[in-house]
Amino acid sequence: MTMPFDVSLRAARADLKPLRSIQSAGWTVHEYDEVDSTNLLAANLPPWHAARAQVQTAGRGRFERTWVSNRGGLWLSAVVPVGGDRMAWRPLPLAAAVAVCDCLTQFGVKGLRLRWPNDVLVEQKKLAGLLIDQFAPGAAVVGIGMNVCNRPEAVDPALGVQAVRLADLVPIAPTLEELTCEILARIREVTDEMLQHGFVHLLPRLNPLWSGERKVELDLDGTIREGLFSGVDGGGRLIFADRSGNFSFFESHQVRHLREI
Ligand code: BTN
Repeated sequence: MTMPFDVSLRAARADLKPLRSIQSAGWTVHEYDEVDSTNLLAANLPPWHAARAQVQTAGRGRFERTWVSNRGGLWLSAVVPVGGDRMAWRPLPLAAAVAVCDCLTQFGVKGLRLRWPNDVLVEQKKLAGLLIDQFAPGAAVVGIGMNVCNRPEAVDPALGVQAVRLADLVPIAPTLEELTCEILARIREVTDEMLQHGFVHLLPRLNPLWSGERKVELDLDGTIREGLFSGVDGGGRLIFADRSGNFSFFESHQVRHLREI
């Protein structure tokens, strides 16, 4: 989870009024037309509240990349309570990815897979990305960006080959409201599971989503290692096998980047 907290920015966003707020599956969802980033907006919200916008003017991706967020996509941030044992919540980004995949499977998407830690792909193309921020102790913001009916390549032509949208994967795409309600219900489900049984309980659903072992290059804060990515363990650590078959286990904060090769 990242901690890019700037108190003054958070205060400015507290004044922004939603178009409407709805209740769904134990969540209160605040809907906006245009915001800079729903994750930054959600920094002001209490647990079990979520913010969704039609457009983000400064959508944030991992590694402080820009996230193209034009009209027609799902730009959603959900505030999850993560009180108690901090270690137990470390795998939340992985659990959230399971929630998004469960939702997409229910809407009929075939051939989904995850690229560590939580890129949602269909074959080599990215359908959704997750950015988890922690702005304050006790709450995490789970940000989900998904190309649904938007055309990200209209903003960045490179995304024409790198991204895929939900509308091209299923005969009838769900509405953004339907997707929002379903994803939030699934996030609530996985967080309840983590709380009651621990993250290890999600492993049988998570590990098959990597679609087998993959040859990867890991950037461990400047040290590059090549080998096989073999899923994650019960503590959410990345399992890596080097060329000699020796296994290493890495916490997510130890891995700056994973590249499939
Ligand atoms: C990534 O794959 O790099 C993560 C992308 C996360 C994008 C979402 S859109 C909703 C939320 N608000 C943001 O500014 N970012 C996340």
